[in-house]
Amino acid sequence: KYLQANDLTQECRDIISSLPKEEGWVSNHLHLYHGCWITPRYMPGVLAFQKHFQARDTDIILATTPKAGTTWLKAILFSLLNRVSYPDLQKHPLLTSNPHVLVPFLEIDLYIENQVPDLTSFVSPRLFSTHLSYNSLPTSAKVSNCKIVYLCRNPKDTFVSLWHFTNKLRLKGTNSLEEAFDKFCRGVSLYGPYWDHVLSFWKESIENPQKVLFLKYEKMKEQPTYELRKVAEFLGCPFTPGEEAKGVVNDILRLCSFDNLSTLEVNKSGKLSSGEANEAFFRRGEVGDYTNYLTPEMAEKLDRITEEKFRETQLKF
Ligand code: A3P
Repeated sequence: KYLQANDLTQECRDIISSLPKEEGWVSNHLHLYHGCWITPRYMPGVLAFQKHFQARDTDIILATTPKAGTTWLKAILFSLLNRVSYPDLQKHPLLTSNPHVLVPFLEIDLYIENQVPDLTSFVSPRLFSTHLSYNSLPTSAKVSNCKIVYLCRNPKDTFVSLWHFTNKLRLKGTNSLEEAFDKFCRGVSLYGPYWDHVLSFWKESIENPQKVLFLKYEKMKEQPTYELRKVAEFLGCPFTPGEEAKGVVNDILRLCSFDNLSTLEVNKSGKLSSGEANEAFFRRGEVGDYTNYLTPEMAEKLDRITEEKFRETQLKF
């Protein structure tokens, strides 16, 4: 159900034309808006989201860098928060709906050109997602008591995963790995610079640990049960002794596992309303796949940049 916001298009056009622009490897062009590289297709949604979103204290926002494992964590958060409503895993919505349908992106799926969605009818706790950096979030998301779960991934695998994803979305040909790598290193990538994105949420998670939970893909892979319990506690819905005894933690992880989700018919053949094939969100789902694509020199270069950018922090990948 949509309400109209007629003032958007011209404002948006004016803003886009005033922004620094780079040829994209993710889309034809990327524009630098408030320190974040955005594709023009998403700009109306970003502006409308920033202008109109009213957070509730009970909202939960999943924030991620693209290719950090968003699809996975959407599935996990949806299952976690709705575990009482869907006790029968044979009839779970994830078996027939892609996680991106169950947990929509605010600036991509909900706030779209010329339209402001009526989110008041959503039942609390509302679960949304975004790729925007912390600094670019609407004020109400920052000042309210809504909770933010942030997920990132080591930059080498993030880059390789994004490179594959963009190749899948292109109609013809493959992006040059070297050119894309050069742009990524200069910060020019979807919602990049990657390091600024990670740092924005990292800082907030240190200053305000009740508000932002900072997660890493690699840790989720290494210690999934530990991380899932941590998420449940952070969101104020820890697993009860009864649930622990019944094995609910492992049930959720099994349901949301790469092997399970990627082999479901809906994810093998379905499409999102934005046009992307569901299967594009499932590739290998492993840590360290960058070694199959980056030369040792490229890997070292990214490591050097990361070390430099994260020098003042305890962040390590
Ligand atoms: P790879 O390209 O390295 O395989 P996003 O969801 O943010 O777009 O990230 C996509 C990445 O997460 C892809 O990584 C994809 O394979 C991986 N992924 C998708 N579903 C997953 C799951 N259930 N468990 C682990 N990784 C998953």
